[in-house]
Amino acid sequence: MTTLVDPFGRQINYLRLSVTDRCNLRCTYCMAEEMEFLPKSSVLSLEEMQRIASAFVNLGVTKIRLTGGEPLIRQGIVELSSSISALDGLKELTLTTNAVLLEKFAQPLANAGVKRVNISIDSLKPDRFKKLTRLGELDQVLSGIEAARNADFQAVKLNAVILSGQNDDEVIDLANFAIERDLDISYIEEMPLGNISSHKREDTQHQSLDIRKTLAEHLELTASAETTGGPSRYFRVTGSNTKIGFISPLSDNFCSSCNRVRLTTEGRLLLCLGNEHSVDLRAPLRDGVDDAELQDIIVQAIGIKPERHYFDPEDTQILRFMSATGG
Ligand code: GTP
Ligand code: 5AD
Ligand code: SF4
Repeated sequence: MTTLVDPFGRQINYLRLSVTDRCNLRCTYCMAEEMEFLPKSSVLSLEEMQRIASAFVNLGVTKIRLTGGEPLIRQGIVELSSSISALDGLKELTLTTNAVLLEKFAQPLANAGVKRVNISIDSLKPDRFKKLTRLGELDQVLSGIEAARNADFQAVKLNAVILSGQNDDEVIDLANFAIERDLDISYIEEMPLGNISSHKREDTQHQSLDIRKTLAEHLELTASAETTGGPSRYFRVTGSNTKIGFISPLSDNFCSSCNRVRLTTEGRLLLCLGNEHSVDLRAPLRDGVDDAELQDIIVQAIGIKPERHYFDPEDTQILRFMSATGG
């Protein structure tokens, strides 16, 4: 039972831990072309991350997701996974990746106790994939997906951010790709996080409902009550093992069931993706707080978790990029 309960009665049992703000891709909706990354001294060490993870698990958190930036470019990611997955009380360690390096890392991560991986893939066309990610080679990602399928994970899910006029014509192809491989897939609405240069977010906004209508022309979808404890609302596809999820931060606010907080690479505990409320854990850690004091700071921080996010694609109020926040 978690001891972390926010002022709105929500139980916090899920921590998303960003292990690096850097990435080997530059997805246009996520990053500006020129990015400034954090100096090494600002970034938490693996030991500091482990200590914070342990404090959360002692407070009743049962699920931790490693994110980035791209988590697989952080040196020591396998060792960190092993030490976090061994924490007594943790039920599930998961990871979100762009899969560029997954061919090498899939089985070592499964051996280290990572139970499920979510893989971002927004296009199956090599040229378009390169354009959307500025740097990406689709073949590497496809090899990474194959390696994940062959590794001992309990589940592999694809995540696709759908942008009007850019990849909305691939909704069906992406679903079929997942179905043919027995993978799950979630479609994500683009959020106005960070000032980007490649497009105006109001021009690319694409709603989950429109994606669902497109899919329903080709597939039989049945609403499902299944949940992985994240914001995806799932549908089953008749005749397949695939679940299709919709993550709809703009069109269908899911904040009332929010169960999570995020830790940025700098050790800032972020109480909500769509608000600036945060508490620094790095300074007390480096000042030498003991475990009980650290846990107390976390309990107090949950007290400022805001009720909900308000996103407006025409107005980027949150200047933090997703990569700095922890996808
Ligand atoms: P699990 O249930 O943990 O397997 O994951 P999920 O499929 O629910 O979410 P995942 O970790 O794959 O996250 C996918 C995307 O959902 C993220 O990259 C965000 O875009 C969005 N998302 C996740 N959590 C939140 C949240 O708390 N608030 C908002 N606004 N968006 C979120
Ligand atoms: N809006 C929605 N999703 C985003 N991601 C990155 N930036 C955004 C954004 N602005 C997603 C990626 C990936 C995860 C790490 O975060 O597509 O699935
Ligand atoms: Fe990197 Fe993920 Fe952002 Fe793409 S969405 S630039 S893969 S952190």
